[in-house]
Amino acid sequence: MNKTMKAETAVSVPTKTDNARRVETLLAHMSLEEKVAQLAQISGAPWNEGPDPEEIIRERGIGSILWLNDTKRFNELQKIAIEESPSGIPILFALDVIHGYRTIFPLPLAMAASWDPVVAEQAQAVAAKEARAAGIHWTFGPMLDIARDARWGRIVEGAGEDPYLGAAMAAAQVRGFQGEDLADPERVLACAKHFAGYGAADGGRDYDPVYLPETELRNVYFPPFQAAVKAGVGTFMSAYMDLNNVPANSNRWLLRDVLREEWGFAGFVVSDAFGVGSLVVQGHARDRQDAALRSLKAGLNMDMASSAYLENLAGLVEDGSLTMGEIDDMVRPILALKAEMGLFEHPYVDETLLDRVVARPEHRQAARRAAQRAMVLLRNEGGLLPLAKGQQNIAVIGPLADSMEATEGSWMVFGHKSAAVTVLQGIRAKLPGATIAYAPGPEIHRDIPHPFGEFDMTEKKPIQTPEDAEAAFQTAVKTAQNADLVIMVLGENADMAGEFASRGSLDLPGRQEELLKAVSALGKPVVLVLLNGRPLSINWAADHVPAILEAWEPGTEGGNAVADILFGDVNPGGKLPVTFPRSGGHAPLYYARTLTHLPEDSPRYYSRYWDSPTTPLYPFGYGLSYTTFAIDNLKLSAAKIKVGQAVTVTADVSNTGSVAGDEVVQLYIHQKWGSDSRPRRELKGFERVTLQPGEVKTVSFSLGPDELGYWSTNAGRWIQEAAPFDIWVGSDSLATCHAALEVVE
Ligand code: BGC
Repeated sequence: MNKTMKAETAVSVPTKTDNARRVETLLAHMSLEEKVAQLAQISGAPWNEGPDPEEIIRERGIGSILWLNDTKRFNELQKIAIEESPSGIPILFALDVIHGYRTIFPLPLAMAASWDPVVAEQAQAVAAKEARAAGIHWTFGPMLDIARDARWGRIVEGAGEDPYLGAAMAAAQVRGFQGEDLADPERVLACAKHFAGYGAADGGRDYDPVYLPETELRNVYFPPFQAAVKAGVGTFMSAYMDLNNVPANSNRWLLRDVLREEWGFAGFVVSDAFGVGSLVVQGHARDRQDAALRSLKAGLNMDMASSAYLENLAGLVEDGSLTMGEIDDMVRPILALKAEMGLFEHPYVDETLLDRVVARPEHRQAARRAAQRAMVLLRNEGGLLPLAKGQQNIAVIGPLADSMEATEGSWMVFGHKSAAVTVLQGIRAKLPGATIAYAPGPEIHRDIPHPFGEFDMTEKKPIQTPEDAEAAFQTAVKTAQNADLVIMVLGENADMAGEFASRGSLDLPGRQEELLKAVSALGKPVVLVLLNGRPLSINWAADHVPAILEAWEPGTEGGNAVADILFGDVNPGGKLPVTFPRSGGHAPLYYARTLTHLPEDSPRYYSRYWDSPTTPLYPFGYGLSYTTFAIDNLKLSAAKIKVGQAVTVTADVSNTGSVAGDEVVQLYIHQKWGSDSRPRRELKGFERVTLQPGEVKTVSFSLGPDELGYWSTNAGRWIQEAAPFDIWVGSDSLATCHAALEVVE
């Protein structure tokens, strides 16, 4: 490092007024070409097809670089920007750091299953520390898309189906990434994505169009995004798909009217990758120039990787289609955030920092605790779990049992080498003296390879032949036969959920269920551990396998966390953040539907499938424990309140079993009638509590205008009505502990 490349240390940064002055001074002096460059994010990846980074930085600077994960290179490019570009504006280095940089945490869907926003905040704070030490300033997270269709692969990246839980997880993740102050050198800038509606893609097919009426957007899909704005998120990413026939990347109503004017968002918006250029392919823009014009007019500040802004914006100003003022308005928040982060004073990263930061033992501890808290016990017949540590002869079976990739899951940062503790390793570490046999059984793979495979330079293993798969199947059954207890680790590979990973079926892929049946037929006790990134329709297992632990894609410490739970060092307390449907054909399935004229409890209930139950396999909010709980004594501070007032709801939760454990107490409401039909149940409060055997706690929730109001189609605005409400408190969305509330004028 030379003298100008001073490392980031505890920083003193200028005041807000100094920053604002700096931005205006820069804007007054920058050329149009430089301004346009600040509106561009270019690729730093080896497969880069865009402009050469060094050349463009030297000539006119650049707003941001993505898809580069190389600390030394960050400093080299930054040095060119600071010392050689005309205005010396620092570059924002951006990368997808979704659930950890080096220490990998459970995927966001799993983190939501913890129902513990504090643990989600801590996870993203660790991710921020590691990423920032590597030189990354900005992450493309959190992903805040509500997803109610389990076929959609990206369901794994969000907090599930519910706006209330989603909003809590959104705010927590923003706080974790950004901290209190953007100038904190151990934090990164967050990005709320993908604005908005992406999770409702038709048929769960990635990128397919989305048709959502305003009532759905405002009541269901927007709340996590608005929570992110309230938590101070610095940036937004617009989505790829058409929202009601207008691509989100050029949707003025979303980007200007809602985001900026209504919500007061003052940061900047980046497109999704290549999104501006894609407007042409999507049949929205005539050509790339038209695409650039439409997006900029719509309020999109930064073009991710398509170069349509770089190629066209200057010309559009010159021919009068855009004014310099419009360009300045788009550049201003980008420069402001660079200034607020202290990048003008501290543009470089200390190249020796990363190794020290990733070695911090507390990062691994945090990852293990997060994984423990995220896991959901789905079944435990006859109290098979927890297993005794004296178990001496165990078979661990399944294609995911020793897979580091499946344990860490999808969305790794570029160049990440998995170092996860697998379930097999975790069990071996827990029982050092025991005989633990292992057989993977037949491999599983996608019918159509994942496109990211093209970028992965590692040598690909040929797909197992049917003969080899059969031999692996028989070996697995034989291995199980020789054991006293079988732990099966099944689910989906890392590349089976995430982007480009939608499915029609929700069954266990490959021959996994067949193997589960064959092993179960041996008559030994069987525990099923699921590693997966979406709800799976494990109908047979739900009826026949006595113990099932949903471990999701639990991260670097995942195998240890599984062993902690299986052998009783930790009592599971996670709850499902999504409904588990009984088949792909049941999706989308979610709990917060409105009533029909022939509801389930009516004697003439016809709105069901004639070939399968319409009830979910597991309901939203569901999860068991090694102990039992009772939730009762539900009280309202008033049975009647006026519109605009709040009521306090309290209930007692007691641990009625014999070991300590966690219960997530959940509050649901239903407005019985009004201008619009309201969902039969809506989550409006939750709290995860730890209780010793026999201990009782009183939990308390407040229901005020925010919880009791809604956006009404009939009124065309937010309203709160005088109406009767049902209130339920319980341990999942089928809660039965009930009280009535009357809201009057
Ligand atoms: C994804 C985004 C991601 C971006 C940059 C896109 O394909 O949809 O979620 O942040 O790539 O990697």
